[in-house]
Amino acid sequence: MLLFTLFIVTSSCLFYYIFNPLVFRNNHEYTNIPALVNDDNLIKNGIHVKTGFIDGEGLMTVVNNCTNCHSSKIVLQNRMNVEAWNSTIKWMQKTQNLWDLGDDQKIIVDYLVSNYPPKSKGRRILLTKVKWYELPE
Ligand code: HEC
Repeated sequence: MLLFTLFIVTSSCLFYYIFNPLVFRNNHEYTNIPALVNDDNLIKNGIHVKTGFIDGEGLMTVVNNCTNCHSSKIVLQNRMNVEAWNSTIKWMQKTQNLWDLGDDQKIIVDYLVSNYPPKSKGRRILLTKVKWYELPE
C-alpha cells in the first residue's frame, strides 16, 4: 500500500513536471532593466555632464581640483585671463585652504583660458553719431 502511494505520488509529480513546465522550470520572461546611468565621466555634446565643463585638454584635472569645495558653476560663471585665474587660485590658497596645485596649476589655467577666456565685448559698443536733444528745464 505504501509502495503504491509512493508510486502514484512520484508518477503524478513526473506527469506534472513534463506537462507543466511553467511551474517547475524557470522559464519566465524577465524584463530587462537598463543599468542606471551613473557615469561621472560622461561627455555629451562636448559637455562633461556632471559638472557642465566643456570637454577639453585638462578637463579632469579641473574637475578633480576645482569642484571639491564649491560647485563648478562658481568657476563657470567667471571668464578671466591667465593672470586673473592665477590670482584667483592664489587668493583661494591664501584664504580658503586651497592646496598647492603643483604642475596641475598650469594645466588648469591653460584649460580655463582656452575654454573660458574673457569676453572681448563685455558691454555694448559705445554709441556714436547720436543727436542729443536738450531736456526742457
Ligand atoms: C579648498 C577649497 C577650494 C577649492 C579646492 C577650490 N576653491 Fe574656488 N573658492 C573656494 C571658496 C571658499 C570660494 C568662495 C566661495 C564663495 O564666495 O561663496 C571660492 C571661489 C572661487 C571663485 C569665485 C571667485 C570670486 O572672485 O568670486 C572662482 C572663480 C573659483 N573659486 C575657482 C576655482 C578653481 C578654478 C578651482 C580649481 C583650481 C577652485 N576654485 C578650487 C574654495 C575652493
